[in-house]
Amino acid sequence: MSNWDDKHTIKIISPGRINIIGEHLDYNGGDVLPMPIHLATEIHLIKKQGVIYEVESSQFENMLCRELKDDHLSDVKWHNYVIGVVCELMKISPLKIKGFKALITGSIPVGAGLSSSASLTCGLLRGLNGLFDLHISKKDMALIAQRVEHQYTGTPCGIMDQYAILFGEKDKALYLNCHTQENKLIDISLPDFQWVLFNSNVKHNLGDSAYEKRVFETKTALSIIQSKFPVYTHLAKVPLYLLKKCRKKMNDELYKRALYVIEEQNRVEQVVSLLTQNEFYRLGNILYQSHQGLSSLYDVSCVELDYLVDLTKSIDGVLGARMMGGGFGGCTLNLIEKTKVDSTIELVSSQYKERFKLECSPIRL
Ligand code: GLA
Repeated sequence: MSNWDDKHTIKIISPGRINIIGEHLDYNGGDVLPMPIHLATEIHLIKKQGVIYEVESSQFENMLCRELKDDHLSDVKWHNYVIGVVCELMKISPLKIKGFKALITGSIPVGAGLSSSASLTCGLLRGLNGLFDLHISKKDMALIAQRVEHQYTGTPCGIMDQYAILFGEKDKALYLNCHTQENKLIDISLPDFQWVLFNSNVKHNLGDSAYEKRVFETKTALSIIQSKFPVYTHLAKVPLYLLKKCRKKMNDELYKRALYVIEEQNRVEQVVSLLTQNEFYRLGNILYQSHQGLSSLYDVSCVELDYLVDLTKSIDGVLGARMMGGGFGGCTLNLIEKTKVDSTIELVSSQYKERFKLECSPIRL
């Protein structure tokens, strides 16, 4: 990159994200509360003569070198995020997109539930939007990035990650209605507390297929509810008493999934109101409740995440914790009194190592 001409290079910093509350609600039409973080993907882009694009990543092997109109998928997973972005842009602006070179570096650990993939697709979209003057709005970029996940990588994700990354701001949570996509930023600077992630450094294979399964299960639960109450179009917005009226029509598994979604939606509303009242201890408690739901009703946790969350319950100064993101590995999110952060990190790290013979990497936000 040293010989790239700075004048013609575009540099994009595209963050990762955490989610304070509202897990697995985005594809159920619920509300979420994500926030961008300092860990980010950095992308350098420059135009190149012709119809070839070349993309290199410092995190992954195998450079990608392709013709713009070539839309077949690659065997190399990360390539497909880039191919997806380029192909979708070619559909929108075939005449404006020309050859380019991109170099990608990044500090977001992959598979940690911090949205490294949305960070890449959204960052690339912003970069190419600037490089070729495409005038694509942030909302459209979010939708394109989501389409790339659905159609080029096979992940039927919601819209939370893309919105958090494109619309989020430092120290502010994005209160996002995933159905209407209305959103507002909420200031959450915490003078006495700190968010800390513990990366379990595990990613269980089950994750991808289970995510798809949860999308299917919650759709099925909604359609059962709709057969009695057709006015409800999104599971997250169904009142709890109506779900209970449909209890007999669902098997235990579907009922548990739907119960989690509806309770989590209630928790989002509670957390938003507690944040505005600076009620952080009660908020911490809700994080624990959310984890309980994710683990026992939604069934997307794992022993390592359960251990990390349970451990903090006996640590003085930890207000609350829960697993974060899709699940089956990745990080827990912890709210800790600032003065207790160092001692908590030390204790959690040593106990986790003793129990699983694995490092758990703390990330201070
Ligand atoms: C992944 C998906 C998101 C969201 C979360 C769970 O990060 O990409 O769309 O569903 O899981 O909240």
